[in-house]
Amino acid sequence: MDNCNVIAITNQKGGVGKTTTTLNLGVGLSREGKRVLLIDADPQGSLTISLGYKNPDEIRTTVASVMQQIISDEELPSSMGILHHEEGVDLVASNIELSALEVSLFNVMNREYVLKNYIERVKPSYDYILIDCMPSLGMMNINALVAADSVIIPC
Ligand SMILES: Nc1ncnc2c1ncn2[C@@H]1O[C@H](COP(=O)(O)OP(=O)(O)O)[C@@H](O)[C@H]1O
Ligand SMILES: [Mg+2]
Repeated sequence: MDNCNVIAITNQKGGVGKTTTTLNLGVGLSREGKRVLLIDADPQGSLTISLGYKNPDEIRTTVASVMQQIISDEELPSSMGILHHEEGVDLVASNIELSALEVSLFNVMNREYVLKNYIERVKPSYDYILIDCMPSLGMMNINALVAADSVIIPC
């Protein structure tokens, strides 16, 4: 049994504080000594940018890449796509490629479970995994909700 707590920070509306909550909650938990992974699940990459990666589109291995590995049933090194930030949190970044990945999910078997499948693999290394969702009701957010133990809805 692992004790990792997976939390989706989500709301269909934009500009309500999802990314701000994810970042500050994550860094706060890290300062309490918790092992924290932040997953940017918004193709706008706001969380990625707010951690100082100014050009998310230049990051080659993102949440879209690790999900694609799962979909293709290819080998996935457990450290793939995980960036270690000086604030003490780890990040799986995001960029525009997630938009294409989300569209392609519609043809995938068990498409609701792809992110959960990824999270199950990395869970043993973390106390908290926070997922910063995009403002929509699309398949990526369904993936986040399926993977989450609980949900925070900033409003
Ligand atoms: N608690 C807060 N009080 C005041 N402004 C906030 C708060 N949380 C977020 N903001 C501001 O609101 C804007 C949108 O926040 P953001 O976290 O990017 O929202 P979302 O991820 O839901 O689109 C940002 O400019 C952010 O600085
Ligand atoms: Mg956001």
